Amino acid sequence: MTEITGKVYVAGHRGMVGSAVCRRLASEANCEVLTASRDTLDLTNQSSVEDFFAQHRPDSVIFAAAKVGGVLANDTYPVEFLGDNLLMSTFAINAAYAAGVKRFLFLGSTCIYPRDCPQPIQEEALLTGPLEKTNEAYALAKIAGLKLCQFYRRQHGVMFHSAMPTNLYGPGDNYHPEHSHVLPALLRRFHEAKNENLDSVTIWGTGTPRREFLYVDDLADALTFLMAQDNPPDWANVGTGVDLSILELSHLVAKTVGYEGDIKTDPSKPDGTPIKCSDVSRLNGMGWKHKVELAHGLKRTYDHFLNEVESGQMRSV
Ligand SMILES: NC(=O)c1ccc[n+]([C@@H]2O[C@H](COP(=O)([O-])OP(=O)(O)OC[C@H]3O[C@@H](n4cnc5c(N)ncnc54)[C@H](OP(=O)(O)O)[C@@H]3O)[C@@H](O)[C@H]2O)c1
Repeated sequence: MTEITGKVYVAGHRGMVGSAVCRRLASEANCEVLTASRDTLDLTNQSSVEDFFAQHRPDSVIFAAAKVGGVLANDTYPVEFLGDNLLMSTFAINAAYAAGVKRFLFLGSTCIYPRDCPQPIQEEALLTGPLEKTNEAYALAKIAGLKLCQFYRRQHGVMFHSAMPTNLYGPGDNYHPEHSHVLPALLRRFHEAKNENLDSVTIWGTGTPRREFLYVDDLADALTFLMAQDNPPDWANVGTGVDLSILELSHLVAKTVGYEGDIKTDPSKPDGTPIKCSDVSRLNGMGWKHKVELAHGLKRTYDHFLNEVESGQMRSV
């Protein structure tokens, strides 16, 4: 068990990752969690960010704020995905250093590795080839944030480092029919297909791309694990190391929600990267491994989803 101490600013605490981090930090006895909602702190506003850090002077930061979305959202709004993410991370990292923050954990993503890099993806693959076109803008911003942390560490000796999570899912996910990621999008579609007694559900693309999924509470645990390391790597993959095809995932989601109709594919829609699975040997070698297997995590996520629907709080933005 690792221990986190002092005042920890969790940026993006209302998001899926940020709220999981707050749940995880609640069990740390000597840690005070600092948060700020977007109404009081717009992270794309440089002077607000500088004032916030100067006033609150956190000991450490877990930076889970970002403009996040699925393939369609990334492809449609590249200006916001590059611009907002670049501003948020640059302002926060610079302001943190200026305010004497001792530790900054930035969140990258395995989707910022080159599109065709060898599988499973090793940390060394970063910047070794062209990016996936559909999320190029997001990836460029994330790579800049991750490298800025690495350069601060190298140039100024501060413990600024990053985690590279794989695809995440869990409580608080976004279920927007077009802007969400593949797993929450499937969960919602199969749930609705069951309620509407549909004979079949057609999934986007060929169903053959292979993906890896990590339950978000496992990520939060890995982040606290990394925060407690004396000499963490500049970035470490966080995943399960296990992949499955989108068609296999669809069947698993259908089973979870109790949908019994047919599942069809639509090859006219783009697939994105053919395979994406992370090599998690670096983090496993340091002593951390995921705990929640996909079938179990899906069940927990669906239970949350049903509660969110019932209470009118399903996130769909
Ligand atoms: N979801 C995944 O599958 C996945 C995979 C790999 C890496 N990640 C990384 O994990 C991090 C968190 O992702 P997530 O899935 O938790 O996203 P999320 O649920 O959309 O949460 C993002 C958070 O960022 C906040 N935010 C966005 N723009 C802001 C701004 N201008 N000022 C202040 N706050 C702002 C949002 O605030 P509001 O609540 O006000 O909207 C929200 O709380 C991101 O860095 C993402 O790249 C996610």
